[in-house]
Amino acid sequence: MLTSEQLRFILQSGILAPSADNYHYLRFEVAPPGLKIWYSEPGWPHDGGYKRAALFLSFGAVAENLAIAASRFGVRSEFELFPDPAAPALAIRVHWQAGGVSADPLIEEIPKRHCNRGVVFRGPPLSSAALSALVQEVAAAYPGCNLAWLGERKRKMQVVELIRVAEQERFRTRALHKELFAAIRFDVGWNRSAETGLSPGALGVEKPLRPLFASLRHWPLMQAFNLLGGSGLLGWRAAVLPCRIAPHLGAIIIERLDDKHLFNAGRAFQRVWLALTRNGLALQPMAVGALFAFPGAAAEGVPERLQRRLAEAWGGIFPTGRPVMLFRAGHARPPPIVASRSALEDYMVDSG
Ligand SMILES: Cc1cc2nc3c(=O)[nH]c(=O)nc-3n(C[C@H](O)[C@H](O)[C@H](O)COP(=O)(O)O)c2cc1C
Repeated sequence: MLTSEQLRFILQSGILAPSADNYHYLRFEVAPPGLKIWYSEPGWPHDGGYKRAALFLSFGAVAENLAIAASRFGVRSEFELFPDPAAPALAIRVHWQAGGVSADPLIEEIPKRHCNRGVVFRGPPLSSAALSALVQEVAAAYPGCNLAWLGERKRKMQVVELIRVAEQERFRTRALHKELFAAIRFDVGWNRSAETGLSPGALGVEKPLRPLFASLRHWPLMQAFNLLGGSGLLGWRAAVLPCRIAPHLGAIIIERLDDKHLFNAGRAFQRVWLALTRNGLALQPMAVGALFAFPGAAAEGVPERLQRRLAEAWGGIFPTGRPVMLFRAGHARPPPIVASRSALEDYMVDSG
């Protein structure tokens, strides 16, 4: 049904999807007439935790790109999670069916989409008709998922505050600090892109602040900086300033916290990101404000008081669901450095 060249194009589009910290924990196995997607790590993160959520959101984003790319060849994609109880590492089986689907115009945006962490996101904002159209598209296409725009000032400020406290905690709690800095590839320097992990140059850190930021990867220095109010300053810089300036703040909300809903949320998020790219807008995910509220987050290093505070506050803001992804969007200068990807062969099961 698909030639090997077409298949390669589809898989290549898959790995261009965003992933938490720029790590795709997956391996593709071509299994005609479909595809198997294996989880590449030794054990699954536990249910209800934020690590599992980030993983399934990332899988969803990859799946959305696969579906969009396959549509170019008139092929429809269906995704089955955990299709084989005897193979627990088999995360997804993709079923491809010829016909009945037209080429999705968002295909053009897949290679153009990138995370933009620059501080200044400007207007003009998208029209309210365009914003509502996206809300409707998400609700119709992804069962149990919704997109919300946090346009109203009071609500936006409440949400920004929750993002701030979560971002700030990443500089205050040792386990979270370790995880944050472990993902940053200081070894590639500030002027090069990284195929896995986060290139420092893609983080939007202002040039004069780079030496200070790099030194903060050492926990004793971070602690010393915190005595001077460092984490408060960094929380403000990471969340309050960029979110307040941005014309749009959005959230993907799910009705039930399970792998399927998280996967659909990842698909929905990627679709929204591509649609905004098509409209010339930049986007930055601001995920931890949502993810640190997960019930299992406390067992993963998030202080319990923060987890409870976030969970209660989100319950008040979104009474019928829970946010799993938050993001800001607007017009912005292109980032100086963007993430790259390893060769497709590195993501194939039989690559050796
Ligand atoms: C589940 C998920 C969570 C993410 N969380 C954040 C985040 O909190 N902050 C951020 O700046 N980027 C976040 N990102 C963006 C990734 O870091 C980014 O997609 C990755 O580095 C690859 O870069 P690219 O999107 O430019 O291809 C997230 C992406 C995903 C899929």
